[in-house]
Amino acid sequence: ECFLRLNNLDDMQERLCQALQLDSVYIVPGNCDDDQTAKEELGRRGADCLTALFGTVRAVAVSGGSTMAAVAAQLPQQNASLTVVPARGGLGNRVKLQANYIAEMIAAKTGGKSHMLHVSDELSAAALKVMMESDEQTKASVTLAQRADVLLYGIGRADVMAARRGFSEAKRRELQAAGAAGEALGCYCNLEGKIVYVTNNVGITLEDIRQHSHVIAVSGGAAKAEAIVSVMRACKRGVLVTDEGAAEKIMTLI
Ligand code: F6P
Repeated sequence: ECFLRLNNLDDMQERLCQALQLDSVYIVPGNCDDDQTAKEELGRRGADCLTALFGTVRAVAVSGGSTMAAVAAQLPQQNASLTVVPARGGLGNRVKLQANYIAEMIAAKTGGKSHMLHVSDELSAAALKVMMESDEQTKASVTLAQRADVLLYGIGRADVMAARRGFSEAKRRELQAAGAAGEALGCYCNLEGKIVYVTNNVGITLEDIRQHSHVIAVSGGAAKAEAIVSVMRACKRGVLVTDEGAAEKIMTLI
């Protein structure tokens, strides 16, 4: 039974890879919606994908969220002299889920250094412009993120992320009307892969994804199936690390 199940995962990996036009797909057993072990496994596989690049890459841009935190937690201590930087601004309320914290953790585990990006989502376009023009640290971190050879990021449901970011009721309804299903790097995407809204912040968006040599998305849980499809259709490249729960549901959507 175990053999059949693993065979089935291999089969789904190939089918998802083709249908979503990606370079590779890795599926870990389980459904991390309700299984902490599956989430750890997802983190471990994401960490393996990153580790496989060590020696050939110098800078990593990373997003925030609990999945990226799981990747960082599963990274073994090693020496890779990496520079790690948040992919995009945005702070949220929970420090341990912030890209700044996760970048620092990855740098500490890999004997590298991290750069911070202290730009909240609440700033106006004018304030952002001033920051980008006058704050050397922000400028340097954004440039580093844009030039990173690895982009490692998480994917969330559009509705969950809109709530987590404290969007107004009107904004949430607007997103829903636009068919927003998933969110990554501040970009809300519909099921066809169209970006319907981008948060006002600095750093990388899904539109800049071609400038990085290696792109790794890590996201699992059946509840995120639509979100993953929407973001992968907008991204159309790189590696997707997901779990069985999400993969099975994605198979019904593509
Ligand atoms: O807020 C940062 C972020 O990477 C979002 O872009 C993404 O939707 C979310 O976190 C994923 O968070 P989690 O892994 O906790 O679902």
